[in-house]
Amino acid sequence: MTATISGFLRGAIDDGDVEARERRKSEYQNFVKLYFDLVTDFYEYGWNRSFHFASRAGNESLAASLARHEHYLAHMLSLRPGKVALDLGCGIGGPLRQMVRFSGARIVGVSISGYQIERARKQTEEAGLSHMAEYVECDFMKMDFPDASFDAVFSIETTCCAPDKVGIFGEAFRLLKPGGCFGAYEYCLTDRFDSQDPQHLRLKADLELGGGLPDIAYPREVDDALRAVGFELLEARDLAAEEPSGIPWYEPLAGSGMSLANFRSSRFGRVVTHGSVWTLERLRIVPQGTLRVSKLLNMAAAAFAKSGQLGIFTPMYFVLARKPERPGGT
Ligand SMILES: C[S@@+](CC[C@H](N)C(=O)[O-])C[C@H]1O[C@@H](n2cnc3c(N)ncnc32)[C@H](O)[C@@H]1O
Repeated sequence: MTATISGFLRGAIDDGDVEARERRKSEYQNFVKLYFDLVTDFYEYGWNRSFHFASRAGNESLAASLARHEHYLAHMLSLRPGKVALDLGCGIGGPLRQMVRFSGARIVGVSISGYQIERARKQTEEAGLSHMAEYVECDFMKMDFPDASFDAVFSIETTCCAPDKVGIFGEAFRLLKPGGCFGAYEYCLTDRFDSQDPQHLRLKADLELGGGLPDIAYPREVDDALRAVGFELLEARDLAAEEPSGIPWYEPLAGSGMSLANFRSSRFGRVVTHGSVWTLERLRIVPQGTLRVSKLLNMAAAAFAKSGQLGIFTPMYFVLARKPERPGGT
Protein backbone atom coordinates (compact mmCIF):
# COMPACT_ATOMS: atom_id res chain seq x y z
CA MET A 1 0.00 0.00 0.00
CA THR A 2 2.89 2.37 0.79
CA ALA A 3 4.15 2.36 -2.78
CA THR A 4 0.65 3.03 -4.07
CA ILE A 5 0.08 5.95 -1.71
CA SER A 6 3.47 7.46 -2.52
CA GLY A 7 2.99 6.97 -6.27
CA PHE A 8 -0.44 8.50 -6.16
CA LEU A 9 0.72 11.57 -4.27
CA ARG A 10 3.99 12.08 -6.14
CA GLY A 11 2.38 11.53 -9.55
CA ALA A 12 -0.47 13.83 -8.76
CA ILE A 13 1.75 16.63 -7.47
CA ASP A 14 4.63 16.55 -9.95
CA ASP A 15 2.82 16.20 -13.25
CA GLY A 16 1.82 19.82 -13.69
CA ASP A 17 -1.83 20.87 -13.57
CA VAL A 18 -3.16 20.03 -17.00
CA GLU A 19 -1.51 16.66 -17.34
CA ALA A 20 -2.38 15.68 -13.78
CA ARG A 21 -6.01 16.69 -14.33
CA GLU A 22 -6.28 14.69 -17.55
CA ARG A 23 -4.79 11.67 -15.81
CA ARG A 24 -7.22 12.00 -12.90
CA LYS A 25 -10.06 12.01 -15.44
CA SER A 26 -8.88 9.06 -17.51
CA GLU A 27 -7.92 7.03 -14.43
CA TYR A 28 -10.74 8.34 -12.25
CA GLN A 29 -11.80 4.89 -11.02
CA ASN A 30 -8.38 4.07 -9.54
CA PHE A 31 -7.85 7.64 -8.36
CA VAL A 32 -11.20 8.05 -6.59
CA LYS A 33 -11.35 4.53 -5.18
CA LEU A 34 -7.84 4.74 -3.75
CA TYR A 35 -8.48 8.24 -2.44
CA PHE A 36 -11.66 7.27 -0.54
CA ASP A 37 -10.27 3.97 0.74
CA LEU A 38 -7.38 5.99 2.19
CA VAL A 39 -9.15 9.00 3.62
CA THR A 40 -12.34 7.50 5.06
CA ASP A 41 -10.94 6.96 8.58
CA PHE A 42 -9.58 10.51 8.61
CA TYR A 43 -12.92 11.89 7.40
CA GLU A 44 -14.78 9.90 10.04
CA TYR A 45 -12.40 11.16 12.72
CA GLY A 46 -12.68 14.80 11.63
CA TRP A 47 -16.28 15.01 10.43
CA ASN A 48 -18.03 12.08 12.04
CA ARG A 49 -20.50 10.29 9.72
CA SER A 50 -21.55 12.94 7.19
CA PHE A 51 -18.74 13.91 4.83
CA HIS A 52 -20.07 17.24 3.62
CA PHE A 53 -20.29 20.92 4.54
CA ALA A 54 -23.19 23.03 5.83
CA SER A 55 -23.66 26.61 6.96
CA ARG A 56 -24.71 27.14 10.56
CA ALA A 57 -27.05 29.52 12.29
CA GLY A 58 -25.42 31.38 15.20
CA ASN A 59 -26.26 28.95 17.99
CA GLU A 60 -26.59 25.78 15.92
CA SER A 61 -24.21 22.84 16.49
CA LEU A 62 -22.24 21.44 13.54
CA ALA A 63 -24.15 18.14 13.79
CA ALA A 64 -27.51 19.93 13.74
CA SER A 65 -26.50 22.01 10.69
CA LEU A 66 -25.38 18.90 8.76
CA ALA A 67 -28.67 17.17 9.56
CA ARG A 68 -30.64 20.27 8.51
CA HIS A 69 -28.80 20.30 5.16
CA GLU A 70 -29.77 16.64 4.64
CA HIS A 71 -33.39 17.18 5.74
CA TYR A 72 -33.72 20.06 3.29
CA LEU A 73 -32.70 17.80 0.42
CA ALA A 74 -35.12 15.06 1.54
CA HIS A 75 -37.88 17.66 1.76
CA MET A 76 -37.15 19.12 -1.71
CA LEU A 77 -37.22 15.59 -3.20
CA SER A 78 -40.58 14.89 -1.48
CA LEU A 79 -39.21 11.73 0.11
CA ARG A 80 -41.80 9.92 2.22
CA PRO A 81 -42.83 6.38 3.22
CA GLY A 82 -43.30 4.14 0.17
CA LYS A 83 -40.74 6.04 -1.95
CA VAL A 84 -37.35 4.60 -2.95
CA ALA A 85 -34.36 6.89 -3.53
CA LEU A 86 -30.79 6.44 -4.72
CA ASP A 87 -27.81 8.17 -3.05
CA LEU A 88 -24.93 8.61 -5.53
CA GLY A 89 -21.70 8.49 -3.52
CA CYS A 90 -23.07 7.64 -0.08
CA GLY A 91 -19.84 7.75 1.94
CA ILE A 92 -20.41 5.72 5.10
CA GLY A 93 -24.15 6.41 4.96
CA GLY A 94 -24.42 9.23 7.51
CA PRO A 95 -26.67 11.48 5.35
CA LEU A 96 -28.57 8.48 3.98
CA ARG A 97 -29.57 7.24 7.45
CA GLN A 98 -30.52 10.75 8.53
CA MET A 99 -32.74 11.11 5.44
CA VAL A 100 -34.33 7.68 6.03
CA ARG A 101 -35.21 8.67 9.59
CA PHE A 102 -36.50 12.09 8.53
CA SER A 103 -38.62 10.93 5.58
CA GLY A 104 -39.50 7.26 6.04
CA ALA A 105 -38.35 6.56 2.46
CA ARG A 106 -36.15 3.57 1.62
CA ILE A 107 -32.73 4.56 0.27
CA VAL A 108 -30.06 2.69 -1.69
CA GLY A 109 -26.53 4.09 -1.45
CA VAL A 110 -23.64 3.44 -3.83
CA SER A 111 -19.95 4.09 -3.35
CA ILE A 112 -16.87 3.12 -5.30
CA SER A 113 -15.05 2.47 -2.02
CA GLY A 114 -15.55 -1.06 -0.68
CA TYR A 115 -14.24 0.10 2.67
CA GLN A 116 -16.94 2.78 2.92
CA ILE A 117 -19.65 0.25 2.02
CA GLU A 118 -18.41 -2.04 4.81
CA ARG A 119 -18.53 0.82 7.34
CA ALA A 120 -21.95 1.94 6.07
CA ARG A 121 -23.47 -1.54 6.46
CA LYS A 122 -22.07 -1.97 9.96
CA GLN A 123 -23.30 1.43 11.17
CA THR A 124 -26.71 0.92 9.58
CA GLU A 125 -27.10 -2.40 11.34
CA GLU A 126 -26.10 -0.79 14.64
CA ALA A 127 -28.70 1.91 14.01
CA GLY A 128 -31.39 -0.74 13.38
CA LEU A 129 -32.07 0.63 9.89
CA SER A 130 -30.95 -2.27 7.68
CA HIS A 131 -34.52 -2.87 6.47
CA MET A 132 -34.65 0.73 5.12
CA ALA A 133 -31.15 1.10 3.66
CA GLU A 134 -29.12 -0.91 1.20
CA TYR A 135 -25.55 -0.35 0.02
CA VAL A 136 -23.92 -1.35 -3.26
CA GLU A 137 -20.22 -1.09 -4.12
CA CYS A 138 -20.04 0.13 -7.71
CA ASP A 139 -18.97 2.94 -10.03
CA PHE A 140 -21.83 5.44 -10.31
CA MET A 141 -20.86 6.11 -13.95
CA LYS A 142 -22.24 2.68 -14.91
CA MET A 143 -24.63 1.08 -12.47
CA ASP A 144 -26.47 -2.23 -12.88
CA PHE A 145 -29.92 -1.06 -11.71
CA PRO A 146 -32.67 -1.30 -14.35
CA ASP A 147 -34.03 1.88 -16.00
CA ALA A 148 -36.63 3.86 -14.02
CA SER A 149 -35.91 2.06 -10.71
CA PHE A 150 -36.10 5.07 -8.37
CA ASP A 151 -38.57 7.77 -7.32
CA ALA A 152 -35.72 10.16 -6.54
CA VAL A 153 -31.96 10.34 -6.99
CA PHE A 154 -29.62 12.60 -5.03
CA SER A 155 -25.95 13.32 -4.46
CA ILE A 156 -24.23 15.31 -1.74
CA GLU A 157 -20.85 16.71 -2.81
CA THR A 158 -20.07 13.71 -5.02
CA THR A 159 -20.61 14.36 -8.73
CA CYS A 160 -17.45 16.51 -8.51
CA CYS A 161 -15.60 13.15 -8.43
CA ALA A 162 -17.12 12.11 -11.79
CA PRO A 163 -14.92 12.37 -14.89
CA ASP A 164 -17.78 14.05 -16.79
CA LYS A 165 -21.05 15.62 -15.71
CA VAL A 166 -23.09 14.43 -18.68
CA GLY A 167 -22.15 10.83 -17.88
CA ILE A 168 -23.17 10.94 -14.23
CA PHE A 169 -26.33 13.02 -14.79
CA GLY A 170 -27.25 10.68 -17.67
CA GLU A 171 -27.14 7.74 -15.26
CA ALA A 172 -29.32 9.63 -12.74
CA PHE A 173 -31.81 10.43 -15.54
CA ARG A 174 -31.91 6.80 -16.73
CA LEU A 175 -32.55 5.45 -13.24
CA LEU A 176 -35.34 7.91 -12.38
CA LYS A 177 -39.01 7.12 -12.95
CA PRO A 178 -40.67 9.68 -15.27
CA GLY A 179 -41.66 12.70 -13.17
CA GLY A 180 -39.00 11.85 -10.56
CA CYS A 181 -36.46 14.40 -9.34
CA PHE A 182 -32.70 14.60 -8.99
CA GLY A 183 -31.35 16.87 -6.25
CA ALA A 184 -27.72 17.67 -5.49
CA TYR A 185 -25.27 19.83 -3.63
CA GLU A 186 -22.50 20.48 -6.16
CA TYR A 187 -18.91 21.66 -5.72
CA CYS A 188 -18.52 24.67 -8.03
CA LEU A 189 -16.25 27.61 -8.77
CA THR A 190 -18.02 30.94 -8.40
CA ASP A 191 -17.93 34.07 -10.58
CA ARG A 192 -15.21 35.43 -8.28
CA PHE A 193 -12.80 32.75 -9.46
CA ASP A 194 -10.23 34.39 -11.75
CA SER A 195 -8.47 31.90 -14.02
CA GLN A 196 -5.60 34.42 -14.46
CA ASP A 197 -4.94 34.72 -10.72
CA PRO A 198 -2.08 32.39 -9.63
CA GLN A 199 -3.43 32.16 -6.06
CA HIS A 200 -6.86 31.07 -7.33
CA LEU A 201 -5.27 28.51 -9.64
CA ARG A 202 -3.10 27.14 -6.81
CA LEU A 203 -6.13 26.83 -4.53
CA LYS A 204 -8.13 25.06 -7.24
CA ALA A 205 -5.26 22.61 -7.80
CA ASP A 206 -4.99 21.96 -4.04
CA LEU A 207 -8.75 21.37 -3.78
CA GLU A 208 -8.66 18.93 -6.67
CA LEU A 209 -5.71 16.97 -5.41
CA GLY A 210 -6.61 17.09 -1.72
CA GLY A 211 -10.31 16.45 -2.33
CA GLY A 212 -9.91 13.57 -4.81
CA LEU A 213 -11.52 15.54 -7.66
CA PRO A 214 -10.73 15.26 -11.38
CA ASP A 215 -11.83 18.90 -11.97
CA ILE A 216 -14.16 21.56 -10.50
CA ALA A 217 -16.95 22.92 -12.69
CA TYR A 218 -18.70 26.28 -12.97
CA PRO A 219 -22.44 26.38 -12.16
CA ARG A 220 -23.34 26.90 -15.83
CA GLU A 221 -21.54 23.66 -16.74
CA VAL A 222 -23.67 21.81 -14.17
CA ASP A 223 -26.88 23.43 -15.49
CA ASP A 224 -25.94 22.72 -19.12
CA ALA A 225 -25.10 19.08 -18.42
CA LEU A 226 -28.42 18.53 -16.60
CA ARG A 227 -30.37 20.00 -19.52
CA ALA A 228 -28.24 18.10 -22.06
CA VAL A 229 -29.33 14.73 -20.68
CA GLY A 230 -33.00 15.74 -20.71
CA PHE A 231 -33.70 17.17 -17.26
CA GLU A 232 -35.98 20.13 -16.66
CA LEU A 233 -34.08 22.38 -14.24
CA LEU A 234 -36.44 23.47 -11.44
CA GLU A 235 -33.98 25.18 -9.11
CA ALA A 236 -30.32 26.13 -9.29
CA ARG A 237 -28.75 28.42 -6.71
CA ASP A 238 -25.71 28.78 -4.50
CA LEU A 239 -26.93 28.28 -0.94
CA ALA A 240 -23.61 29.59 0.42
CA ALA A 241 -24.36 32.98 -1.15
CA GLU A 242 -27.70 33.02 0.68
CA GLU A 243 -26.20 32.65 4.15
CA PRO A 244 -27.86 35.07 6.52
CA SER A 245 -25.71 36.28 9.41
CA GLY A 246 -24.73 32.76 10.42
CA ILE A 247 -21.46 30.84 10.44
CA PRO A 248 -20.13 30.05 6.93
CA TRP A 249 -19.55 26.45 5.78
CA TYR A 250 -15.74 26.74 5.89
CA GLU A 251 -15.56 28.07 9.46
CA PRO A 252 -14.86 24.68 11.12
CA LEU A 253 -11.74 24.40 8.94
CA ALA A 254 -10.60 27.99 9.39
CA GLY A 255 -11.61 28.73 12.98
CA SER A 256 -9.49 28.53 16.12
CA GLY A 257 -11.00 25.16 17.01
CA MET A 258 -11.19 25.82 20.70
CA SER A 259 -14.71 24.41 20.82
CA LEU A 260 -14.66 20.77 21.82
CA ALA A 261 -17.24 19.79 19.20
CA ASN A 262 -15.17 21.11 16.27
CA PHE A 263 -11.73 20.39 17.64
CA ARG A 264 -10.72 17.58 15.24
CA SER A 265 -11.57 19.37 12.01
CA SER A 266 -10.21 22.73 13.19
CA ARG A 267 -6.79 24.11 12.27
CA PHE A 268 -5.43 23.50 15.78
CA GLY A 269 -6.99 20.02 15.94
CA ARG A 270 -5.42 19.11 12.59
CA VAL A 271 -1.95 20.14 13.84
CA VAL A 272 -2.40 17.96 16.93
CA THR A 273 -3.73 15.06 14.83
CA HIS A 274 -0.89 15.36 12.34
CA GLY A 275 1.64 15.25 15.22
CA SER A 276 -0.04 12.14 16.63
CA VAL A 277 -0.02 10.45 13.23
CA TRP A 278 3.70 11.27 12.88
CA THR A 279 4.39 9.54 16.21
CA LEU A 280 2.17 6.54 15.40
CA GLU A 281 3.87 6.06 12.02
CA ARG A 282 7.33 6.24 13.63
CA LEU A 283 6.21 3.60 16.16
CA ARG A 284 4.79 1.55 13.23
CA ILE A 285 1.35 1.47 14.88
CA VAL A 286 -0.28 2.91 11.71
CA PRO A 287 0.80 1.89 8.16
CA GLN A 288 3.64 3.75 6.44
CA GLY A 289 2.13 6.41 4.18
CA THR A 290 -0.53 7.48 6.70
CA LEU A 291 1.38 10.70 7.39
CA ARG A 292 1.31 11.63 3.69
CA VAL A 293 -2.46 11.14 3.60
CA SER A 294 -2.79 13.33 6.68
CA LYS A 295 -0.64 15.99 4.94
CA LEU A 296 -2.78 15.78 1.81
CA LEU A 297 -5.97 16.32 3.80
CA ASN A 298 -4.46 19.23 5.71
CA MET A 299 -3.57 20.82 2.38
CA ALA A 300 -7.17 20.32 1.19
CA ALA A 301 -8.59 21.72 4.43
CA ALA A 302 -6.46 24.87 4.14
CA ALA A 303 -7.53 25.26 0.49
CA PHE A 304 -11.23 24.81 1.33
CA ALA A 305 -10.95 27.41 4.09
CA LYS A 306 -9.08 29.97 1.95
CA SER A 307 -11.24 29.53 -1.15
CA GLY A 308 -14.33 29.85 1.05
CA GLN A 309 -12.98 33.07 2.58
CA LEU A 310 -12.19 34.45 -0.89
CA GLY A 311 -15.62 33.36 -2.13
CA ILE A 312 -14.18 31.63 -5.20
CA PHE A 313 -15.64 28.20 -4.44
CA THR A 314 -18.90 26.79 -3.08
CA PRO A 315 -19.68 23.24 -1.91
CA MET A 316 -23.42 23.89 -1.99
CA TYR A 317 -24.56 24.87 -5.45
CA PHE A 318 -28.03 23.36 -5.08
CA VAL A 319 -29.81 21.89 -8.08
CA LEU A 320 -33.24 20.30 -8.35
CA ALA A 321 -34.11 18.79 -11.74
CA ARG A 322 -37.08 16.76 -12.95
CA LYS A 323 -37.23 13.96 -15.48
CA PRO A 324 -40.19 14.82 -17.75
CA GLU A 325 -43.24 12.52 -17.67
CA ARG A 326 -42.89 11.97 -21.44
CA PRO A 327 -39.64 11.93 -23.45
CA GLY A 328 -38.89 15.50 -24.56
CA GLY A 329 -42.05 16.73 -22.76
CA THR A 330 -42.93 17.93 -19.22
C1 LIG B 1 -17.11 13.73 -0.32
S1 LIG B 1 -17.72 12.09 -0.24
C2 LIG B 1 -19.41 12.44 0.16
C3 LIG B 1 -20.08 11.26 0.78
C4 LIG B 1 -21.51 11.45 1.23
N1 LIG B 1 -22.35 11.99 0.17
C5 LIG B 1 -21.59 12.30 2.46
O1 LIG B 1 -21.97 13.48 2.32
O2 LIG B 1 -21.27 11.80 3.54
C6 LIG B 1 -17.82 11.56 -1.97
C7 LIG B 1 -18.38 10.16 -2.16
O3 LIG B 1 -18.50 9.88 -3.56
C8 LIG B 1 -18.08 8.54 -3.79
N2 LIG B 1 -17.65 8.40 -5.20
C9 LIG B 1 -16.78 9.18 -5.88
N3 LIG B 1 -16.64 8.74 -7.16
C10 LIG B 1 -17.45 7.67 -7.27
C11 LIG B 1 -17.76 6.79 -8.36
N4 LIG B 1 -17.19 6.91 -9.56
N5 LIG B 1 -18.66 5.82 -8.14
C12 LIG B 1 -19.24 5.66 -6.92
N6 LIG B 1 -18.98 6.45 -5.85
C13 LIG B 1 -18.10 7.45 -6.03
C14 LIG B 1 -16.95 8.33 -2.80
O4 LIG B 1 -16.68 6.97 -2.61
C15 LIG B 1 -17.56 9.02 -1.58
O5 LIG B 1 -18.42 8.13 -0.93
